[in-house]
Amino acid sequence: MGEPFMLKCIAVMTSGGDSPGMNAASRAVVRTALHEGVEVWGINNGYKGMLEDDMCQLSSRSVSDLIQRGGTFLGTARSKEFKTIEGRKKGLANLKKHGIEGLVIIGGDGSLTGGSLLSDLGMPIVGLPGTIDNDVWGTDYTIGADTAANTIVDAINKLRDTASAHRRIILIEVMGRKSGWLAMMSGIAGGAEYVLVPEVKFDLDQICEEIKESYAAGKRYSIIVVAEGAGSAVEMGKIVAEKTDIDTRVSVLGHIQRGGSPTVEDRMKASMLGERAALALISGTSNVVFGFDAGKVVSINLYDAVNHKKTLDPELVRLARVLA
Ligand code: F6P
Repeated sequence: MGEPFMLKCIAVMTSGGDSPGMNAASRAVVRTALHEGVEVWGINNGYKGMLEDDMCQLSSRSVSDLIQRGGTFLGTARSKEFKTIEGRKKGLANLKKHGIEGLVIIGGDGSLTGGSLLSDLGMPIVGLPGTIDNDVWGTDYTIGADTAANTIVDAINKLRDTASAHRRIILIEVMGRKSGWLAMMSGIAGGAEYVLVPEVKFDLDQICEEIKESYAAGKRYSIIVVAEGAGSAVEMGKIVAEKTDIDTRVSVLGHIQRGGSPTVEDRMKASMLGERAALALISGTSNVVFGFDAGKVVSINLYDAVNHKKTLDPELVRLARVLA
């Protein structure tokens, strides 16, 4: 048996929407590679930076003072040019120019799909799921989703105080263009009366009737969490106010959900995933995404991860109904 295949130089990149914990993951990739005696580069601003040759070698100090920070020190961006084969070949040539033999990509399904296209051109890729939406197939967990859910729950707690004081209905619009995970988790944890998600049909007329009945029975407030993919909370708020004749307000949380210091869960899991990604890549494993299943790190085939759609756990939908 010969020596195990070892890469001597790898790179790390964040891409797509930033999420809290991306820094912890990048830091873990960098420090693990250095620990193994492997050179490590950071690509700035995602695929855009790859095409612009915006990358530099990193040291252990490059990732100091980062584990507690939201955002991503590497920056992130969208690149139209990367969607073309010429663009991808240019990116690949830039990586090769610096001797980069493999790449860790931290991002959501769009970013990981980009990784699969680079892999098609022969670049070894390991992906890490980084998105607040928790919508990457094959993993229970994505980096940043826990922090974002906690941010939303904090907002729900505050909105409930004022809703109760005024006997108001408050609709809270949260992120999740295609996925209701964030709305569902924070809605259950925040004790919302209703959680509206793109995956499940709902009847606003019936909801209004139920709210009227609950107010008649003495309830002081009603909290409705709306995933942005389920429709506009502002528009729904107008309908709810008109149909119930109850004072109604709407709060659109927006990008506040994407920032902030990562929770312990996001710091720990991002660190564990970052280490696994670096170790796998330098020992010759590629075309995988590392995630979590039932509390354990698992590897998912990169092509499976990007070609399947994750569905919302029906148990969560049921629980939200039972507890409301
Ligand atoms: O994909 C993550 C996400 O936060 C979505 O939930 C949201 O719809 C989108 O990004 C917003 O993207 P942008 O930062 O481009 O406005």
